[in-house]
Amino acid sequence: MSILRRDFGAMPDGSPVYEYELENRSGLKVSILTLGATLRSIVIKDKTGVERDLLLGFDTVEDYLTRHDYQGVIVGPVANRIAKGELPIGTKTYELVKNEKDKLCLHSNAEYNTANWRALIADADRIEFSYVHPDGANGFPGEIRNTVSYTLTDDGELKIAYHAVSDRDTYLNLTNHAYFNLNGYDGGDVLGHIVRIDSDAITEVDPDSIPTGRLYPVEGTPFDFRAEKPIGRDVNADDPQLLIGGGYDHNFCLRENPDRACREVARVRSAETGINMQVFTDLPGVQFYIGNFLHGQPGKENVPMIKRAGLCLETQFYPDTPHRPEFPSCLFKKGQPFDSETIYRFSVDKENETE
Ligand code: BGC
Repeated sequence: MSILRRDFGAMPDGSPVYEYELENRSGLKVSILTLGATLRSIVIKDKTGVERDLLLGFDTVEDYLTRHDYQGVIVGPVANRIAKGELPIGTKTYELVKNEKDKLCLHSNAEYNTANWRALIADADRIEFSYVHPDGANGFPGEIRNTVSYTLTDDGELKIAYHAVSDRDTYLNLTNHAYFNLNGYDGGDVLGHIVRIDSDAITEVDPDSIPTGRLYPVEGTPFDFRAEKPIGRDVNADDPQLLIGGGYDHNFCLRENPDRACREVARVRSAETGINMQVFTDLPGVQFYIGNFLHGQPGKENVPMIKRAGLCLETQFYPDTPHRPEFPSCLFKKGQPFDSETIYRFSVDKENETE
């Protein structure tokens, strides 16, 4: 295992942005920026030995600050949408920044991903990033101390461990928003990727992608990924929920997990490269988003990020949990830590194993 540090430019205030690279014994390389604690690249040799970088992203700080659709970043303190931009806690309602349609709060107005995090090499295979959310930023209460660590193992696991603790009661729901393309960031769209998600229902959404409170069973719908299938098979089906997201952009409810085990919940593979990715989490949901809103903005090496050039599996509590007491709660008391782990595990099938 080795860890390198490179300069990646500077923030508008002049503070340096660094890129850390972890490499394991089989040559799997992962890099992370201090800006947004952003997972910037995952480079792996495919079934023919060609190196592929599996992540959409950018080459400059400026692009990560201005052109982004949250590529690879840590989102917090509360990922996904909050209705009306209001956060009710006890008898108080906090007014949040309404950064979507002037009426709801999406991804906490990009706070965590536009901050330059402090990095610490915590171990031979682990880097830890920290950031303090100032009380009231974007309307979210509490001074929140966050630590996100990335560990790369020799058997191809990239573990992301989240820790956050607030000095006031607040909602916490951190995630990573990586866009994966198992054919490489320049590998076209992901409609041919084969996906399995262990979920029996999604959270039904209204036209603003806010949960209605009802669950929508996947049985007999395009959302049924319980047996693996290519993303493109049903993506254009005439389903009212699918039309709302313009394609998959929904929270899949994961199965009961009373012991909060970090269990496998999804798997993706590409027959073209033989690359597989398994996803493990201890959280109750995962937002499966297939980049429907990407529109050709230039990414790494100026390669356009075309519609559906990447897929996200954002492990999380359900969207709009603050307004839905029936959902698993992510309200954390003052001093009560949010601790969670997500693992992306990479492997490569040999040529004759991929079909
Ligand atoms: C949301 C999408 C959104 C994307 C980028 C995803 O988590 O579900 O609707 O376009 O993030 O903001």
